[in-house]
Amino acid sequence: MTPMSPSSRRTVATATVVGRGRLGRVVARALGAAGIAVAGPLGRDDVVPPADVVLLCVPDGEIATAAAAIGPVGGRVGHMSGATPLGEAGVDFGLHPLQTFLGDEGAEAFHGIGCAVAGRSEESLEVARELAVRLGARPFAIADEQRAAYHAAASIASNFVVTMLAAAEEVAASTSLTRDDARGLLAPLVRSTVENWAVRGPESALTGPVARGDTRTVQRQRSAIAAAAPDLLTLFDTLCESTRTLAERTRSTV
Ligand SMILES: NC(=O)c1ccc[n+]([C@@H]2O[C@H](COP(=O)([O-])OP(=O)(O)OC[C@H]3O[C@@H](n4cnc5c(N)ncnc54)[C@H](OP(=O)(O)O)[C@@H]3O)[C@@H](O)[C@H]2O)c1
Repeated sequence: MTPMSPSSRRTVATATVVGRGRLGRVVARALGAAGIAVAGPLGRDDVVPPADVVLLCVPDGEIATAAAAIGPVGGRVGHMSGATPLGEAGVDFGLHPLQTFLGDEGAEAFHGIGCAVAGRSEESLEVARELAVRLGARPFAIADEQRAAYHAAASIASNFVVTMLAAAEEVAASTSLTRDDARGLLAPLVRSTVENWAVRGPESALTGPVARGDTRTVQRQRSAIAAAAPDLLTLFDTLCESTRTLAERTRSTV
């Protein structure tokens, strides 16, 4: 993944956004705020008007079908998927924001975030880069053969973190805490942990009983989970094992 220097080129005046889902709604708003005349976000039965760029904000499995369905529109067609290779999708460029969107965010949601860009030609790559910069994001290049690993990293960092936080919430809710209380009380801990990891790296960020080699406390935790949420035991054991490996790595580097 190679960071790219900011581009000052402005070749895109019009854009059509296809897909009214979570990302389509936000990116249509943000492109408009960036001074681009936007049609959409369009639904699946809408006619796609010509534009300098057409952005497909549809599920990954639908990209090739949507690209084939729109026909010649004059401009370049791109997708916003992290994992889908450009050739397989039949699009000219890729623009993947390294962020999670629920659909109601404002145009500033792109400001300062990473944005993976790719193109099947130098001109298409330049268009993707221009869009990223005009959205306020930081473009970096991603090659098709790196996409699966790149996107796996993004899924671990976002989706799997949510899965683990849901597990923490479930275990906390087996005490006298409500789920709302649990989220409110755990959130500062999560934020500090993420900030420590981002600034200092995993070795310095890791604290807790596994890192301290406190097997008695880990065993107590395991028994509590076995009683309260036995479906989480496999996840707990796997994470303990990975955490032990990280702690050993930490000790060997000190
Ligand atoms: N959301 C994020 O956080 C995020 C972040 C980065 C990248 N992305 C990428 O953005 C793309 C869209 O993801 P999303 O989260 O926005 O998905 P989503 O919320 O599920 O929305 C997808 C939208 O596409 C529509 N659609 C499906 N097939 C279509 C077709 N053939 N023509 C026109 N519209 C069609 C769906 O309409 P129906 O409801 O009628 O099926 C739905 O409105 C994916 O490639 C994803 O990888 C998403």
